[in-house]
Amino acid sequence: MRGPLSIITCNEKMKAIIVKIKKMADSDSSVLLIGETGVGKEVFAEFIHRISNRTQNSFVRIGLSAMPSDLMASELFGHEQGSFTSANKLKRGLFEVADHGTIFLDDIDDVSLDIQSKLLRVLESREIMRVGGTKAIEVDIRLISSAKVNLKEMIRNNLFREDLYYRINVVPIVIPPLRERRDDIPLLVEHFLKMFSPERRIDISSKSLIALINYSWPGNVRELRNIVQRVSLFCGDRIELKDLPAEFINNSFLAQIVKACSFCFLDEKYDFNEIVHCVESNLIRNAMKESGGNQSEAAKALGLSLSTFRDKMRKYFQTTISEKKSDKEL
Ligand SMILES: Nc1ncnc2c1ncn2[C@@H]1O[C@H](COP(=O)(O)OP(=O)(O)O)[C@@H](O)[C@H]1O
Ligand SMILES: [Mg+2]
Repeated sequence: MRGPLSIITCNEKMKAIIVKIKKMADSDSSVLLIGETGVGKEVFAEFIHRISNRTQNSFVRIGLSAMPSDLMASELFGHEQGSFTSANKLKRGLFEVADHGTIFLDDIDDVSLDIQSKLLRVLESREIMRVGGTKAIEVDIRLISSAKVNLKEMIRNNLFREDLYYRINVVPIVIPPLRERRDDIPLLVEHFLKMFSPERRIDISSKSLIALINYSWPGNVRELRNIVQRVSLFCGDRIELKDLPAEFINNSFLAQIVKACSFCFLDEKYDFNEIVHCVESNLIRNAMKESGGNQSEAAKALGLSLSTFRDKMRKYFQTTISEKKSDKEL
């Protein structure tokens, strides 16, 4: 049984992609999904299959980056019994399994030139030959491929066959990285919270959400999904800034500090020491605000030992540890 498949988005560029996909889903034309790791290429590939007229037949994903190259031909095209030492049974390859359905060549940029030639032959003839076989077997497949890098660049460096590129790239679809569609972050957070903790209603504080929105997300939606999963295991009813990994806390602090110190950054009359004073005191003030006046927590958030933190408190705010009132004055 297939579970529900959802593409969560409110972003205009993504919505335009979905409109484009819906128009060509039934057309059988080859699609090339281009995007960084974790942007949702696999989700889109399966989405295309599900809304196409091949939906009753198989969707076969082939993870090309994880497949050992010596096994690749037999995995893709199958083998006849006895065609090599360990081939004690006839094996149907993934292209045969995908007959009348959709085949998804995931990470095609990771394939050797030798396999590229074999793929090209199949895609041109729509026929496969099992390893050790003598007769061609016709296959009816819809092809979707994915690539993480610019294949044109690979062609220039003789790492990718130009003829294969034109075969697979009939309809190119570029999926933007998450940092270029930050408006999707709140929606995705909500979606993953529901997915990972269906029995609990977990909320998220606005500061934590801002920290997530400000982050650069090199691992895109996959990284966001993993972080939400991890945080939801340990947080209370509401995700607070302190529940997030350190890089988010620092990142959101950084954004606040840049804002708070922009005046002295921009004004030439401030010298080096004055700028350092402004940045450091603002960092400390912010950390104290965030921790509700708890010095140990504020020190931890800044990655400082408690004694260094207290020294700095004294320096900037003339406070002593026993003088609790100065915490409140901050
Ligand atoms: N728009 C989206 N809505 C919901 N889940 C998504 C979305 N994009 C990606 N994901 C999830 O993020 C993870 C990575 O997506 P995937 O399609 O495997 O990325 P890619 O193939 O580009 O590396 C998967 O768990 C997928 O379910
Ligand atoms: Mg993938």
